[in-house]
Amino acid sequence: MIPGSRAGAPRRRATLSKAWLRVAALFAWAFFSPAGLSGTAFAAGLSAFAPGAAWPADDGSPVDSHGGNILRDAQSGTYYWYGEHYGTPRGIACYSSGDLYNWKFEGVVFPRGSIGVLERPKVIYNAATRKYAMWFHYDSTGYKLAQMGVALSDSAKGPFVLQGHFRPNGHQSRDLGMFADDDGKAYLLYAADSVNVTIRMVELSADYAGVTANDVDLKAHCEGPALMKRDGIYYLITSQCTGWDPNRATYYTAANAQGPYTGRGDPCVGDTAHTTFDSQSCYIFKIPGYADGYMFMGDRWNGSGSANSRYVFLPISVPAANTLQIRWYASWDLKTFGPSAAHAPLPPRAGNAGLPVLMLRGGDAMLEYGGHGWRPDGALVR
Ligand code: GAL
Repeated sequence: MIPGSRAGAPRRRATLSKAWLRVAALFAWAFFSPAGLSGTAFAAGLSAFAPGAAWPADDGSPVDSHGGNILRDAQSGTYYWYGEHYGTPRGIACYSSGDLYNWKFEGVVFPRGSIGVLERPKVIYNAATRKYAMWFHYDSTGYKLAQMGVALSDSAKGPFVLQGHFRPNGHQSRDLGMFADDDGKAYLLYAADSVNVTIRMVELSADYAGVTANDVDLKAHCEGPALMKRDGIYYLITSQCTGWDPNRATYYTAANAQGPYTGRGDPCVGDTAHTTFDSQSCYIFKIPGYADGYMFMGDRWNGSGSANSRYVFLPISVPAANTLQIRWYASWDLKTFGPSAAHAPLPPRAGNAGLPVLMLRGGDAMLEYGGHGWRPDGALVR
């Protein structure tokens, strides 16, 4: 200690300023986070999913983003939804949201241009290259090219720039899914060969802009591949090959991403028409912050691909290992998902526990006060 200085004074000032920062952060949270302290989602907007119903975007027009996927930007916490856009210009649309219910149109991030068929886009983020990689079905109008296209962007909101289009390792390729594993490897799943006789799964190159030779046959005659992983088990949902018509889903499970996969039947419970609740699978979105937040994303094409096609988003449950269930809910929200890692007891913290703090938990902002925690969607942690 410097002679004559008072050890306590600077420390008190530091503690005080931190406290003020915390209080300011609390007010910022309460005022600027729509979910904040009220526990409700956007006050003036949607606060639930309504599968199959018209889904208006921020401007009142229907969300026009089909056959695609959702990702969450880790930095901003914003969700981005990509999909086939049938409006003008035709291409791949991007919508953004803070809560998964209310979506803002960010524009067409990859126009179709002169490409005959541009379908089922999927976008994942590569943390090493800091680029967003979009893969999609690239085809001629007669579906004879049967290729994958890949485009990259520095921003989630595009623009995406075409890098190439080809048949992965020579295989015909049409409907596709994507999956980023927790070991950093990413895979492209595609309905392969003539015509869609199997699903293949190819590991992407480290930059996600190309494919490797690690390309296996999952032995599933179907389309619409959507993959998730829970407790070390991989669950693959597929649709059948019935064009735009809905059909009965099948799911498969495996101990390794690339199989071998075992068929387990139809995951839908109470789906008396056996049509995946009138939809075809397109993606499973693992909602960050919810250990069991697996959301089935399906398309209700309504006759054919059109701006008016609807979405069937439903919660997926895993009642036992290797068992997947999808039930119908006319309306549901994120509180449907049960206890998760994000709900585990809060770690002890030093200092004045009576002050509210904003903290990061599993990459998610959380407000902690009086031994309770709230996530940005308003859910109580404990
Ligand atoms: C479906 C496929 C759609 C679209 C359609 C064209 O089987 O899932 O993405 O390609 O065929 O008929």
